[in-house]
Amino acid sequence: MSKITAAITAVGGYVPDFVLTNKALETMVETNDEWITTRTGIKERRILKEDGKGTSFLAIKAAEDLIQKKGLDPKEIDLVIVCTATPDMKAAATAAYTATQIGAVNAFSYDLEAACSSFLFGMSTASAYIESGRYKKILLIGADKNSSFINYKDRATCIIFGDGAGAVLFEPNEEGLGLQDELLKSNGEGRDFLQATYGGSSYPINENTYKEGKHYIFQDGKTVFKNAVFNMADVSERIMQRNQLTNDDIAWLVAHQANKRIIDATANRINLEDEKVMMNIQRYGNTTSATLPLLLYDYESQLKKGDKIIFAAFGGGFTWGSIYLKWAYNS
Ligand code: UT7
Repeated sequence: MSKITAAITAVGGYVPDFVLTNKALETMVETNDEWITTRTGIKERRILKEDGKGTSFLAIKAAEDLIQKKGLDPKEIDLVIVCTATPDMKAAATAAYTATQIGAVNAFSYDLEAACSSFLFGMSTASAYIESGRYKKILLIGADKNSSFINYKDRATCIIFGDGAGAVLFEPNEEGLGLQDELLKSNGEGRDFLQATYGGSSYPINENTYKEGKHYIFQDGKTVFKNAVFNMADVSERIMQRNQLTNDDIAWLVAHQANKRIIDATANRINLEDEKVMMNIQRYGNTTSATLPLLLYDYESQLKKGDKIIFAAFGGGFTWGSIYLKWAYNS
């Protein structure tokens, strides 16, 4: 009997309509289009503006897109995982609300949080359930409403982040396609450099902490940048080496979209030409948990069955890693 592997069999995505351009940011903080473009590669990002709509709104839209495209009966879904660093609210799982709203009434559901590595780690979790034979249809969603914790007076962060969601379906595969290998890492010494300090259990928000504005996301960009460049390139190179893969074997690099210079550095380390590097940071900025599935969403029509893909991510915590996956279908 052939081993069961876990393959992605469908993709969906959603970004809000409102476009926040570099030009518009010039009127909000001291910055300019040229600086943002050359330092990050970002030209615009999408923002969910409507009051009372949170991350679940984005997640539901991406899931509905997938369900409709695939012709999937949501009642067949066993598990819904929402990967997010910006849940709708504390305590109540965003995934539970999402699953109910999309009609996944037979699924259980939970949130998974590892900052910008959430979706990558979620791929590992979903695959392990499938490989074990325990579940057959897992909807893995990456969704973040980053605008909910951005200080639009802080030019170090407001130029980078955007809102969006992507979703994939994981199912068993008997042709050996899907997830092949993973190299996942974390190091808590990094948490001082990228965090929203107040609003968690260590420092709950009260009148005083609110005034300090430390419920917004903060990052020491230079330190995060250096660690991201080194670590994302390192794990990508190592996972290729231990699977005897050369640059010619790889069809695509699907890397977390935080800064074009970080993605380029990773591609350079593994000698991959630009045409094989998925890129949409120019349109969406950094959407945290949504960057990887939104890349698959944008490039789905170019993917071919059997394509060997390297995924890579780096984020707060620090958390990072790489996954090697074989694509399972032609669209
Ligand atoms: O997804 C999770 C992981 N996150 C990341 O991977 C983000 C990693 N970090 C970065 O992408 C980059 O560090 C940033 C894009 C955040 C910043 O780029 P940088 O090249 O590291 O710039 P810097 O912070 O070293 O600042 C260089 C200069 C400074 O001026 P001086 O001191 O040289 O005069 C900054 O004050 O650029 C200035 N600066 C800006 N100027 C215009 C910083 N932010 C801006 C801005 N517009 N938005």
